[in-house]
This record gives sequence, C-alpha cells and structure tokens, in this order.
Amino acid sequence: MKKNYYITTPIYYPSAKPHMGHAYSSIIADFFARFKRIQGYKVFFLTGTDEHGQKIERAAKEQKKNPQEFCDEISKSFKDLTKILNLSNDDFIRTTEIRHKKAATNIWKILEKKGEIYLSKYSGWYSVSDEAFYSEDEIEEVNGVKQSLSSGSKVEWVEEESYFFKLSKWQKPLLEFYSKNPDFILPISRKNEVLSFVRSGLKDLSVSRKSFKWGIQVPNNKDHVMYVWLDALTNYLSAINYPDEGNINFKNFWPADLHIIGKDILRFHAVYWPAFLLAAGINPPKKVYGHGWILSGDQKMSKSKGNILDPIEIIESYGLDPLRYYLIKEVSFGNDGNISKDKLENCINSDLANNFGNLCQRVISFSEKNTDLMTANEISFIDDDISILSIYEKNFNRIIKYIDNQDINSYINFIVEQLFAANKYFNDQEPWNKKKNILRLNTIVYTTLELIRKVTILLYPIIPDTSLKVMSIFNTSDIKLETIINNEYIKKNTKLKKIDILFKKIEKNVN
Ligand code: ME8
Ligand code: MG
Repeated sequence: MKKNYYITTPIYYPSAKPHMGHAYSSIIADFFARFKRIQGYKVFFLTGTDEHGQKIERAAKEQKKNPQEFCDEISKSFKDLTKILNLSNDDFIRTTEIRHKKAATNIWKILEKKGEIYLSKYSGWYSVSDEAFYSEDEIEEVNGVKQSLSSGSKVEWVEEESYFFKLSKWQKPLLEFYSKNPDFILPISRKNEVLSFVRSGLKDLSVSRKSFKWGIQVPNNKDHVMYVWLDALTNYLSAINYPDEGNINFKNFWPADLHIIGKDILRFHAVYWPAFLLAAGINPPKKVYGHGWILSGDQKMSKSKGNILDPIEIIESYGLDPLRYYLIKEVSFGNDGNISKDKLENCINSDLANNFGNLCQRVISFSEKNTDLMTANEISFIDDDISILSIYEKNFNRIIKYIDNQDINSYINFIVEQLFAANKYFNDQEPWNKKKNILRLNTIVYTTLELIRKVTILLYPIIPDTSLKVMSIFNTSDIKLETIINNEYIKKNTKLKKIDILFKKIEKNVN
C-alpha cells in the first residue's frame, strides 16, 4: 500500500510581492515534499494565497484597485514564484476561489449548528497588519503609537458587533490534545510558548467583522464577513475537496502531516486551528513546525519594515540551487538566520564548487583520461571501498528519522560529511598512481562514482536541478531513495555522460 503525505506552506497575503521570507518557507516545504516522494510516498504539497480581510482591502484601496483585481495581480506573482523556485507543489489555492468559499462556509455552518459560535460585541485592539486581536497586556506604546509587543505592528481600537467562537471551552481539550500528541508543535522551544499561552487561559475569539466587506460572507447574516484567519486556515481542507469527506483526496490526505509556517503565525496554527477543528468534529493536523525568521541585519525581513531581499534578483545573479542550498544549510532550521550576498558566495565556493562540484568534475575527468568514460567490466572491492560505501546502509534508518523529525540540520550535516569523505577517499586511494593495476584503478573510479550517485540522491530534495544533472552522468533521471543502499546500481560496463561544470567559483575581492 502506498503511503500518503500531506504538507503545506502558509498561504501568503498578496498585499505586496513575495520576498525571501516567503521563498524560505516554500523551499523548506518543497524539500520535505521531494524527500517523501523519493521515499515512495504519495505526496500532496499545497501552497497558495490568503486574499481576504482588511489588510488586503486597504492595500487595494491605496492603489485605487478593486480588491479582486489587486489580488489577481499579486497572487500571480506568488504563483510565478513557485515556478522560479522549482517548487513541486501539487496545487495552488486562492481563498477567493469558489471551492474555498464552499469549504469555509461549511465549517462555519457546522460550528454554528454545534453551538460553538454566538453573536455578541467585540471591543479591543486589532492589528490589521497581523489580522490579529490583542489583549491589553499584549500591546505597548512607543512614541505615542500603540503597537503589538510580539510583532511591533500598529494596533487600532475596534468596537463592533461580532460573532464569537467559544475558544475558552477548548482550553482543556487542547491541553489534552498536546499531551497526547507531543510532536504536534515543533520545535520544542515554540511548543513551550504555546503551552503557557493556553495554560494561562483562553478567551472566546471574535470570528467575524462588520465594518468592512472584503471577506467571505457569514451564512445567514450578510452584515458580517468571516474573520480572515478562520477563512484562511480552512484552505488546508478546501484544497483536498472538503466538505466532500468521501472524496479520495480528503480520505488520503487528511489529517495533514505537516504545516510548515513561520513562528509569527504559530498561535493561529497551534491553538485556533486545532480548536476550530476539534469543535467541528474534524481531526487536527499531525504536526505544525514554526520555523525562525530570515533576518535582514538583525530584524525580521518583512514588507512592512521595507527591508526585503528579492529572491528573484538573487536567483538571477547566483542561480536557484545555490539559494536553495544556502537557505536549507546555512539557516539553522528552527532558528532565525541571515542571508547576505557575501555569505551566499562563501557557501557556493566552499560547499558547492569546492566540495560537491569538484568531486564530480575530477572523477569524470579522471575517468575520461583513464577509463574512457566507462565503468569497467570487472571490479574487486577491498575493505576501504566497502567501508565507505556501507556508510549509507548503516545510516539509512537514521536519515529517514532526521526527516520525520524535521531535523534538517543533521540531514545536511550527514551530506556534507559524505562529500568530504568521498573527496578524501579519492585522494587517499590515489588512482593516478594505480596505472599499473587497472583492476584497482577501475574499482576506485567505480566506488567514487557510486558515492557520487548516492550523495546526489540525498541532495535531490535540496538542489533538484543540479542533482538531475549529475544523475545524467549515469543516464538516469530516476531518483529513488532506496537505491542508495543498493551497491550494484551503477552497472558495470556502462558509458558515462560528461557534464558541464556544476558551480562556478565566485571571484572574491580580498583586500
Ligand atoms: O501570515 N522569515 O501571511 P504572510 C521567514 N496569510 N519566513 C517568513 C518571513 C521571514 N522574514 N516573512 C514571512 C500570513 N515569512 C497569513 C498566513 S496561513 C493559513 C495564513 C513566511 O504573507 C513565514 O512562513 O504574512 C510566515 O509565517 C509567513 O511567510 C507569513 O506570510
Ligand atoms: Mg505577515
């Protein structure tokens, strides 16, 4: 039986063009999606845009556009970015689509029918930028302006009739749910934040707005639109054909295996979302991972701070795979991290050009000169060969565990170690001094090629295009994880294909 895996990115606000922070979440999710696919899973990878609410309505108004037109335009730049980043997403959802409105309306009706929603009046602080309600102790005043303590965004006073969701009632069931599902919130440091927030008591949540129109209408009350977060979170269901719960996609993929998000929106995903679902009688997702921020200097990169780095510009100068590699390796997963051109260049030179690129290049040119770009007919392993080849077999289960625990850092460390090890093996074996022992020379070349093939498969989720290029040496584009523990994969007596230089070293000015 084929196993299924459902992974999502946040759906981004199309209030301004995408930046490096959005690219980061999407690349991380793509990494997991690709790994699970080569592991043999049937994967559904979802991304999209979150198009309703006051934030979008105001941004459209500023540009004198109607909100739908405005969203169409910017949502397209997010969709284009999925191609530019080589994302393997299976769908791109927009919350202005009919299929989504149907799902969100359905959830509302269920919650209402179950007595989970009531009409009352909201008065309190609201940040349009975060689309979030804040209590008095979650705000501060800076230079006469009230702002959110956590995000620093401006809050305004809101007083209007509003529907409420009985969140307070779900405090205990949520705490039980967290303790039964200890991996629901990762990383652990974030989990503790959420637990203490929930333990400190939950207030009922305002889930509709009356003072503007850009949203999904509340069923049976056309004066209200649904709170944009209730609307947005439901996207994870609408994309797999909810409310048609008998549908094959819903049956295969719900509950979602992993929501990749930034830590800024953890409360929505780890508290409100499971509460809505529990209240509606739907299983909560299995895991929410709140990663750190891409910083610009020492501040979060964000459109409202105006300190953004455009992923498209970086890709134009350095290429996509170096950017993917950098974000996955150099930003320690779970923590905040920085990206600068200087650090990116160092990473390209040391890891990609000197380590991986060089390994491929030197073995291929050696083979061209000495083995006619062929693997030999006869190979005879010695202990040195077997011991390095068997590292993959010995670590296979561990590698899978790294991924299932979202331990990207250990995964990439393993790869980098293996790249060094393969280069060292080739050096130490000195095939150039074995010209009188052709059997040995051929075996060294074969072993190194096989090491390249194995590590390239592990690199595939990170740098898919480059990996496919390397696999073309062996005339294949078939990437299956299980073949890294199969030492007979490269056939004897096979013609190898030459490839171009994988990564050009970047000249750096040293003063
Ligand atoms: O919050 N570093 O959308 P959004 C890392 N529509 N990741 C970053 C980042 C940064 N500097 N900036 C943004 C919303 N992100 C809602 C989500 S989901 C049902 C609705 C990433 O456009 C990160 O994943 O503000 C963050 O959580 C998300 O983009 C916020 O995107
Ligand atoms: Mg945001």
